[in-house]
Amino acid sequence: MYLGVDYYPEQWPKSRWPEDIRLMKELGVNVVRMAEYGWHLIEPEEGVYDFSLLNEIIDELTENGIKIVLGTPTAVPPAWMVQKYPDILPADRNGRPISFGGRRHYTVNSKVYQRFTEKVVRKLAEKYGHHPDVIGWQIDNEFGHEKSDRSYGNEDRTSFWFWLQNRYGSLEAVNEAWGTAFWGQTYTEWEQIPLPLNVYQQHNPGLLLDFDRFCAAGYTAYSKLQVDLLRETISDHQFITHNFVFNEQAINQRDIAENLDFVSSGNYPAWGSGPEPATPASIAMQHDICRSTKEGKGFWVMEEITGAQGWNHTGYLPRPGQIRLWTYQAIARGAEAILYFRWRSSRFGTEQFSHGILGHDGKPKRKFEEVKETIAALKTFGDEWVASDYIPEVGMYYEVGNAWAWRIQPQSRAFDYKQELLRFYYGAYHLNSATCIVSPKSTLDGLKVVIVPVYFLTDPDFTDKLKKFAAEGGTAVLSYRSGLKEPSNALTELTLPGELAELAGIHVEEFEALQPGQQTRIRGTTGNIKDILSPATVWCDIIKSISADVIGVYRDAYYEGEPAITRNRYGKGVVYYIGTAVEEYFLMRLYKDIFKEAGVGMIELPDDVEMVVRTGTGGKKFLCLLNHSTTASHRLTLPKGHWKDVMTGEIFNGVVRLPSLGSYVLMQ
Ligand code: GLA
Repeated sequence: MYLGVDYYPEQWPKSRWPEDIRLMKELGVNVVRMAEYGWHLIEPEEGVYDFSLLNEIIDELTENGIKIVLGTPTAVPPAWMVQKYPDILPADRNGRPISFGGRRHYTVNSKVYQRFTEKVVRKLAEKYGHHPDVIGWQIDNEFGHEKSDRSYGNEDRTSFWFWLQNRYGSLEAVNEAWGTAFWGQTYTEWEQIPLPLNVYQQHNPGLLLDFDRFCAAGYTAYSKLQVDLLRETISDHQFITHNFVFNEQAINQRDIAENLDFVSSGNYPAWGSGPEPATPASIAMQHDICRSTKEGKGFWVMEEITGAQGWNHTGYLPRPGQIRLWTYQAIARGAEAILYFRWRSSRFGTEQFSHGILGHDGKPKRKFEEVKETIAALKTFGDEWVASDYIPEVGMYYEVGNAWAWRIQPQSRAFDYKQELLRFYYGAYHLNSATCIVSPKSTLDGLKVVIVPVYFLTDPDFTDKLKKFAAEGGTAVLSYRSGLKEPSNALTELTLPGELAELAGIHVEEFEALQPGQQTRIRGTTGNIKDILSPATVWCDIIKSISADVIGVYRDAYYEGEPAITRNRYGKGVVYYIGTAVEEYFLMRLYKDIFKEAGVGMIELPDDVEMVVRTGTGGKKFLCLLNHSTTASHRLTLPKGHWKDVMTGEIFNGVVRLPSLGSYVLMQ
């Protein structure tokens, strides 16, 4: 298994390199990623290539048994390029160029930038594409991150027209799809179509959604350009990946990933001045999203947090044991390699306070020892664990287009798309069921339950898949604001939940948004939620049952007593509709009933504890146990049988004690 660090040798005197390498070997590192910000090093002037620094450090590392992942350096166009070709810069929503001085300052639609990219990628591929110790490539870094996804410049505008022509074929079709009859926006020439620059009020939602699609398509094409160029030259032993960020930016990770060997991502549970790390469930969901981007294929954590992180504000320092815990959590959920960010804290630049394994003084201390122990442990059992299967039973729907549609129209100030995903994910996480993330292209085969939160922008293929899934015996869980939008971002003409009405066996008669601080309540009426109350926030659908049973009703509102949660039989399956944002604990209680009936494996553990089961060859089971609490220890009852601690060989039968931040891998 590859375990390594993110290294920036160019930021240190060469005289330090041997000590770095000595310490890396002591740490157990077998791979480093470098050069993703290194364009200025290899092309210091236009057309003048200089690989001397890279050659030297690659030689030194590889002579010491350390393999290399090379970044293509396109995340930072060098200063000379911006000076000479300022049109490569992206533009903000006022059409003003973003300045040189940070990173990611280019627009994918610039033909000049594409040509420079071609040249530098080709040069790199020729130089290192057959190097036996360069094991792979990371193209660029974090496409779209830091608001670099949407660019509003002149070249973007012409590319947008071209993209629209390809998508729609005619202006009539654009006018129809966007409903330009509204507010007199009918276009009679392509050149009249604006970029969504600043306006009074807001642009047409159809245009806004297509602009996001266009931005994402630009990145997909740009990444393909790099991948295709690399593949023309590099050897088969080298992989190609990208270090993704997963949020609502206008990037389609799944589309980009189709051309990659696997996806990578950074794992930063704590960032900036945040006093606490992200919740364990949100970290887990992030890993699930990552693993599901290529439908279950393992991924790399290209940057794993090791120290307090941030730019002008730096915050939470991972507590002793937490680097290992977050490492194990990532692997349990599908990471196949971990590279720790960063080898050493930088003395200068924007990230002076993004701390690494070594501090500014370059001396190994506590964090170094923790990473060393973690790597040593993983070297003993990591490979077998990584090779085992993660077999999901519960899928949750997440599609970037839906995220963009919600970003355009959040409808309630209390609405946050990621937060709502987490709300619906949490119960499955807490019950330690095996989860995955599904998208319109995913097969639902093998899943027992599919949770589809806030399915606002519908995808006809996915809607059909869901109907088939339920008809054949699957269980679907739908939520408020389902079935509203057609792919063009126009509203359906059908009574809500639109195409899903028959599936859910309900009609949504009326609805209202609740703003932050506003809430009503609901009361469950059957099973595990019988007489249990939950606050209802964000949104309330007022439901009329057509064929569904009512299993939860509103309280404290003028629609008191009206259905809030329903359950419908559809074919051989069951479909739930949850008409409001209920608390996680309430959903978890409801999931217990749903999962039990659907035959989903679950085990309820203390709130801080996560358990991930993987299946190896010959039915071998790996049980990863993680206690996320920084203060509380827990005694747990293990699933039946003898469990061997893969590190110590100790056998557990029955009960195990997990200290705070304890992480174990047990085998059966
Ligand atoms: C990202 C980038 C890194 C660095 C870290 C934070 O993941 O890829 O270059 O900025 O965040 O320190």
